[in-house]
Amino acid sequence: MTYRIALNFEDGETRFIACNPGEKVLDAAYRHKINLPMDCSDGVCGTCKCRCEQGDYDLGDDYIDDALTQAEADERIVLTCQMTPSSDCIIAVPLPSTACKVKPAAYEGVITAVETASDSTIVLRLALDNPTALNFLPGQYVNLGVPGAGQHRSYSFSSKPGASEASFLIRNLPGGLMSGWLTGKAAVGDRMTFFGPSGSFFLRPVDRPVVMLAGGTGLAPLLSMLEVLADQGSDQPIHLIYGVTHDGDMVETDRLEALQSRLPSLTWAACVANDASQHPLKGYVTHHLADEHLNAGDCDIYLCGPPPMVEAVRLFLRDKGVTPAHFHYEKFAPSETEKVAA
Ligand code: FES
Repeated sequence: MTYRIALNFEDGETRFIACNPGEKVLDAAYRHKINLPMDCSDGVCGTCKCRCEQGDYDLGDDYIDDALTQAEADERIVLTCQMTPSSDCIIAVPLPSTACKVKPAAYEGVITAVETASDSTIVLRLALDNPTALNFLPGQYVNLGVPGAGQHRSYSFSSKPGASEASFLIRNLPGGLMSGWLTGKAAVGDRMTFFGPSGSFFLRPVDRPVVMLAGGTGLAPLLSMLEVLADQGSDQPIHLIYGVTHDGDMVETDRLEALQSRLPSLTWAACVANDASQHPLKGYVTHHLADEHLNAGDCDIYLCGPPPMVEAVRLFLRDKGVTPAHFHYEKFAPSETEKVAA
């Protein structure tokens, strides 16, 4: 038995390594040809400090206080040269992946479907060549190559980790490089390559109520998270508000209903911003975010949408005087080539 350790680098790149029982994380990383920061390898210098975001571990008592103080240890700061995992872990590494000699990881798959799911959204499905080789955290994205163009675009998985088929929600942009290729040239059976995974917008342990806010194709990473939560089960209330601009933009509502039947603590609502909408719920997601969902701030918020939506929600919370326990967000630019997570 080995533990699966996700190393999430400062630039968002993530690599997964297998750590043997009793093995130090630094040694396991080295075995996988990843050079985590280190100097003494002996618990003395503190150079290998990282933060363990999730999982259980033992640091032993062979390191000195100059390398890691008790206050740091209490904050889950770890010395990877001393850290022995006792479960799967997620470790935030305070350096870019390139500084640790992390090589780009490429994956390939074959198109099984390109569906025009709404006026503005394409659902892309890929059968993965080697599904077991692809690890990612629910909510993360990859850089998907546009065949023949020598360029890539960033998209979050809407599928869950471990599935044999990866799916993505692609915004159908007029003149868009990826959407133009998908609608004009792509065919079932075409091969696609992607690199990653990346991003610090991923699901954390659910130990308080969760609010999920999606704008347009920002629904994708939240679907991936909900698939995992539906498999795991959760007693905590989870409320999703999905906002789109026009009635014809809405997608994946059948899937949300299916998720709700598998995850009874999930509730969700969809709203449409356009004044001319025929939808029963109009307006922005903030118009439908009630006090009961925010639970006086004792909630974790996950938000994925365009930058103005992120700012609008931030201002809404400030004006209400609500400070959520955690506010995880990912902004995507209209071209979807850039993502910014926090
Ligand atoms: Fe020096 Fe870990 S490498 S304390």
